[in-house]
Amino acid sequence: MLSYILIIIIAYLLGNISTSYLVAKKMIGVDIRTQGSGNAGSTNVLRTLGKKAGAITFLGDLLKGMIAVFIAQIVARLTGLDVVTSGYIAVIGVVCGHNWPAFLGFRGGKGVATSLGAMIAVNPIIALTCFGIFLIIVAVTKYVSLGSVLGISMSPIFMMFLNNKKGLLVTLFLTISVIYTHRENIKRLLKGTERKIGQKKE
Ligand code: G3P
Repeated sequence: MLSYILIIIIAYLLGNISTSYLVAKKMIGVDIRTQGSGNAGSTNVLRTLGKKAGAITFLGDLLKGMIAVFIAQIVARLTGLDVVTSGYIAVIGVVCGHNWPAFLGFRGGKGVATSLGAMIAVNPIIALTCFGIFLIIVAVTKYVSLGSVLGISMSPIFMMFLNNKKGLLVTLFLTISVIYTHRENIKRLLKGTERKIGQKKE
């Protein structure tokens, strides 16, 4: 039990490392949460600081999700815990740390790239299939938020087909948290006022 708590704490702390916050501070010396949509994520870095910074942010947030799971799997092997359960616990911890970072006043990102990275480390086929769906939706509609919500919403459906109960619980958590963090985006999508990819104005 103690080791599972250790895993969730390590993952949560890793999640607190906000790539968008660090990239924006380094490049223009401002808090990314004061720019564009106010979100600490790669879409907002892309619209505020351009493609290269957006890509770095996306990769950084994705990698931290993967690293959190890999650390959890190492801890599990060293302490005799179930490796799969430990990985899933780390997925939840790192996404919570990214979305609600204690070190940044509990105002973080929306958890899409971090969820993707963490899920690639536990279920690469499902994660990459959802990412493919995300890419198609974004390419067709130009709405990153729509791709994010619909892409991640497919993951519990895939888990259900595979009869993966732990995976289903974790992907349900990810789906609910992505819908929750995108609640304002969803309202704008319904009103037809959501920003398209790269669009700068509010
Ligand atoms: O993952 C974030 C994206 O779906 C929306 O970001 O900045 O447009 O609210 P943003």
